[in-house]
This record gives sequence, C-alpha cells and structure tokens, in this order.
Amino acid sequence: MLCSSLVMVRTTRAFSRVSIARGMAHKPLAFVAQQSSIHRTTTTTTTTTRSYGKTSSQLFARMEEEVDPGKIEGTDLQIVKYPHPALRRDNVEITKEELKDGSIAQLAKEMFMYMYEAEGVGLAAPQVGVNKRLMVYNQSGDKKKWLEEMVMVNPQIVEFSDAKEIDEEGCLSFPDMGGYVERSKWIKVEAMNLQGKKIKRKFTGWEARIFQHEYDHLDGVVYIDRLTEKGKEEVQPRLQELIAEFGDGGAL
Ligand code: CO
Repeated sequence: MLCSSLVMVRTTRAFSRVSIARGMAHKPLAFVAQQSSIHRTTTTTTTTTRSYGKTSSQLFARMEEEVDPGKIEGTDLQIVKYPHPALRRDNVEITKEELKDGSIAQLAKEMFMYMYEAEGVGLAAPQVGVNKRLMVYNQSGDKKKWLEEMVMVNPQIVEFSDAKEIDEEGCLSFPDMGGYVERSKWIKVEAMNLQGKKIKRKFTGWEARIFQHEYDHLDGVVYIDRLTEKGKEEVQPRLQELIAEFGDGGAL
C-alpha cells in the first residue's frame, strides 16, 4: 500500500530531520515555505542521516518506525485508533474534585507512560478513550527530559497568531500515515495544572503546533480534518484500511 504520498512524506521527513539537525527545530520559517513546494512537486530530498531527531513527524507519532505497544506494563490504557468513536465524542471539563482526589494525576502519569512507549510526544485523553479535557506532551519526546513534561487541564487557546505555517503531522490514533497541516505560528493559552493552579503561557513554533494538535482532540477534531483536499485524497487508502480494521461502530 505504499502509495506515492507516503514516499513524498518520507522525503520531506528526511528534509525535516536535516533541518532539525541544524538546530532549526524552533525556527522553521525558512524551511516551511520550501516544504510546501516539496509537497506540491514531490522533489526528492536525500537523506543523509538516520539519527532520529524529534522531527514534526515524530511529534505525535513516527510513521516509519511507529510503535504500537498494545497493552503495556503499569497501565491499562490503550490508544484508540480512527475511527473509534471516542475520538469524536464531547470531552468534559475536569472538576476540582477530580484534581484533588488524584485520579487525573494518575491518568496523566499513565498517559505519559503510554506516550513514551508509543514514541509519541503528545497525547490527549480521548485518545485513550477518556473523554475529558486533558492533554499531556513532552516536546522532546524523551522521557529522560521529564522537566519538559506538560500537563494541561481544561486548556483553552485564547489567541491565535494570524501568521500560519505548514508542517507535517502524524498522530498515534492514525498509525502509518501523515500529512501537512497549517497551524498558527504562536498561540496564547490558559489552562490549569494538576494542582488546579492557573497557567497562562505563549507558545511558538514546535510547541504551539503540538498544543494545537492535542487541543483539537479535545474538541473532537483530528488532524485529517485539516488536510488540504489533496492531502485528504492522499490519505484515503490508508483511512479505508483503518476503517476496515476497526469494523462496525466507528465514527468518522
Ligand atoms: Co493526535
């Protein structure tokens, strides 16, 4: 099923890796424009390195080396995959009581465990079948860099930049595929932490992209909804496979 779109994705992934290796991870402005032209023309970019920096395609999931850990030790959580209806359900706000009783802290901890195991860098609660407004991420994707772990309870995006950029995304709920998504370059967000304390932050670039992707999940939106018409067409064969694997009862 290796359609040309996947090949395209791989070449641009290589491009991302090289860019990241040059330390451009947080300054993608220059290469984004080039990336979109690659998208249109499917120019071949030579891969010179296999060192897997955390590129955008790994942001949410790897496509080439994706890991589906299934059931893992220490948690009963499992990723739900498209078209599982949990991805489209309403997600309820988390209450002060839930924060106090520690259940959300436990959930966040297990979501991180799963996320690292699956080699993702972000996870939203509906992706583990829990329809609550909670997301976790670590933009490094490296569990040793636990200081970079972010837990966002009832997050809100209060301002989006008009300036946009296009980059590649994947998602653990959509194994073995990816696509280009336009996102705001920066966002201002408000949320609570696990102690119920209000957080107000501005995120740019990479982190802004992760946040917007995970935040979408809390509104029942998934990245394929944001692909261009051409992008949607390209992922159709893979979506059909996922739908067939899921069987009856899915929600597109
Ligand atoms: Co996702």
